[in-house]
Amino acid sequence: MTRILAIETSCDETAAAIVENGRHVLSNVIHTQIPLHTLYGGVVPEIASRNHVDMLPPVVQKALSDASLPLESIDAIAATYGPGLVGTLLTGLSYAKGLSFALGKPFIGINHIEGHVAANYLSKPAPKPPFVCLVASGGHSQIMHVSDFTRLTLIGKTRDDAAGESFDKVARALGLSYPGGPALESLAENGNPSAVRFHSSFNENDSFDFSFSGIKTAAINYIHTHSQKNEAVNTTDVAASFQYAVISILAKKAVRAASNTALALAGGVSANKALRQTLKTLCSERSIPLFLPDFSYCTDNAAMIGSAAYFHFIKKDVSPFSLNAVANLSL
Ligand code: KG4
Ligand code: ZN
Repeated sequence: MTRILAIETSCDETAAAIVENGRHVLSNVIHTQIPLHTLYGGVVPEIASRNHVDMLPPVVQKALSDASLPLESIDAIAATYGPGLVGTLLTGLSYAKGLSFALGKPFIGINHIEGHVAANYLSKPAPKPPFVCLVASGGHSQIMHVSDFTRLTLIGKTRDDAAGESFDKVARALGLSYPGGPALESLAENGNPSAVRFHSSFNENDSFDFSFSGIKTAAINYIHTHSQKNEAVNTTDVAASFQYAVISILAKKAVRAASNTALALAGGVSANKALRQTLKTLCSERSIPLFLPDFSYCTDNAAMIGSAAYFHFIKKDVSPFSLNAVANLSL
């Protein structure tokens, strides 16, 4: 029985969780800073870091009390050390190292993207390596091959904006509040996805890399051009057409990458129901097993970090206290 206390502060959620044997979530506490950043239309790094410092003690305390466990019953402390905002990463990382040192329990630094992939191990049914995983979040859009629980290889990535970032920027141009992804999805529900063609020829090529910047710019220009001419913009149709363009690219490349294996989905954008439905259809047509994480583990949380950390812990792959935060950490 291994219980890991995990901490996640890579961006604007202060999160702590206790996960047993990498699969069983005993508690999962998330304090979101969204109301703090909504005023500015995006995350303000300095405000985010200071709020993490304030919220880490109560959030960790709640994770322990929700699991009805004392600190002494924890076998290891894990924290995200990158990629993310360097200041926010440092808050959680330093807190985890301090706790680990005080308790005399191992400390494990986890790559945030590996954590997103591990969200799949908390859901049922869970994939077993090898499989291909599409990770689409606010900071990253990648396709990776997962050959083992701790061995992930990048096979494709965005050349410019992340999928979630493009959702957020188009949502802002449509007058929706931050974070734009879920708001844009709701608006798109009643729109016509074929109303406007937002296209980027880069994504036609055979590589597994994506580009979302052209589609994002085309959608924003469409909105601005119409409003400058005082022409009404059908926002539901623009939202549906933009969402369709992004989802088609993500789904097409991910399914092609997984053609001989299974496909899993991860990251904030994996909460998008239209993306899930498109993947279900494409995978069932091709008999590709598809794994979708529970909605509660799609966006940033610490349970996914606790799951990823378990697979390092059982290999005795723990981290030194000299481990630093790495804003642009790769796999
Ligand atoms: O994984 P995440 O919580 O944080 C990062 O690691 O970036 O992802 C947040 C991103 C944001 O860009 C948000 O707008 C997007 O995921 N997102 C969505 C949806 N829910 C969250 N995008 C599209 N549809 C959604 N339902
Ligand atoms: Zn994330």
